[in-house]
Amino acid sequence: KNLFTYDPGFVSTAACESKITFIDGAKGILLHRGYPIDQLAEKSDYLETCFLLLHGELPTAEEKEVFVNTIKNHTMVHEQLNHFFNGFRRDAHPMAIMCGVVGALSAFYHDSMDISNPEHRIISAHRLIAKIPTLAAMVYKYSMGQPFMYPRNDLNYSENFLHMMFNTPCEEKAISPVLSKAMDRIFLLHADHEQNASTSTVRLAGSTGANPFACIASGIAALWGPAHGGANEAVLNMLEEIGDVSNIDTFVAKAKDKEDPFRLMGFGHRVYKNFDPRAKVMKQTCDEVLAELGMENDPLLKIALKLEKIATEDEYFIKRGLYPNVDFYSGIILKAIGIPSEMFTVIFATGRTPGWIAHWNEMISNDYRIGRPRQLYTGSPKRDYPSK
Ligand code: CMC
Repeated sequence: KNLFTYDPGFVSTAACESKITFIDGAKGILLHRGYPIDQLAEKSDYLETCFLLLHGELPTAEEKEVFVNTIKNHTMVHEQLNHFFNGFRRDAHPMAIMCGVVGALSAFYHDSMDISNPEHRIISAHRLIAKIPTLAAMVYKYSMGQPFMYPRNDLNYSENFLHMMFNTPCEEKAISPVLSKAMDRIFLLHADHEQNASTSTVRLAGSTGANPFACIASGIAALWGPAHGGANEAVLNMLEEIGDVSNIDTFVAKAKDKEDPFRLMGFGHRVYKNFDPRAKVMKQTCDEVLAELGMENDPLLKIALKLEKIATEDEYFIKRGLYPNVDFYSGIILKAIGIPSEMFTVIFATGRTPGWIAHWNEMISNDYRIGRPRQLYTGSPKRDYPSK
């Protein structure tokens, strides 16, 4: 007789206690340390939210200044790390390279092996929040065959990211405040989402006592799939494939057909069955960015708006609680900024880093046991090896 519960997909199993993020999926509520996501998106910024996730409280003005400067202090990566990139094909998927180079950070910071030391854990958190955007931009530059751009500490976090992505040694353009604000919001809206697949992966890897950089690399791998962080790239590919509003009905019918594996990407969520509060802010940011760039008539936006309307009025989607999620509009914003779709999940990973590391740190700071799910064995009963 099995003494444990069978819960495929962990639909009803709480694997830990956490004080970081609260979600009420039925009501569309998302709180970080008690603060609603829409208020954080409006009044806070990404680095302040990182501090909040890590330390539990909003920083004072002085604490914020120290935190921002500390992150700036860690933005460069070891020169030796540049050589890793040469081992990858130029057309490698950016997430494949991210899994490798983020994991490789563990080889550079041996002090991070002492995970019992709270100071070391926080230094690892600072290094990750600071270096992942640098690595993300390097991945992009590598794919373009352009030189890596060093971080600039006179810029804020998102401006610096856009600088490392789009500037070259020949030309350094000023970064538009509207675009850097949009980038900051995208990072902030992805900063944490409690025990999703990638965060649970980071916790599971961390529960063995593994190095934090290796744990975050495992989270990046889990994020890659189209059911999770890969959805933003899949949404854009889908909108391009739909191509014209006149084709939407065909794609909606495909999504409803149980014989067809196609799903409307950017729709549905394991926890939100009413609306995704992040999607609302993302849509507003999308409008701001397209207005700034004079792209209000963007054909992909037109398809997205019509698709949202048709799908959310359809009985199939209503009955199953399927609404646009955070990734439905993020791809349109990123594309408008000039970021190619293969990079979208890397942007998600960059934004999610503080959530992953805050959960890892919370787990290591408290009593924890190695994660070890059980199974229901459905294979052959014991049998004897055939005699020859
Ligand atoms: N299009 C069409 N039907 C869908 C969709 C969709 N996007 N999502 C779920 N369904 C149907 C599904 O076929 C099932 O129908 P039925 O009850 O008749 O069998 C029902 O809705 C429940 O779906 P499920 O697969 O049991 O739900 P889940 O909680 O296991 O999966 C999900 C959640 C997000 C993986 C899924 O909704 C999905 O694949 N969505 C598209 C991918 C996507 O946008 N992912 C990003 C999630 S938000 C960002 C993040 O947190 O990573």
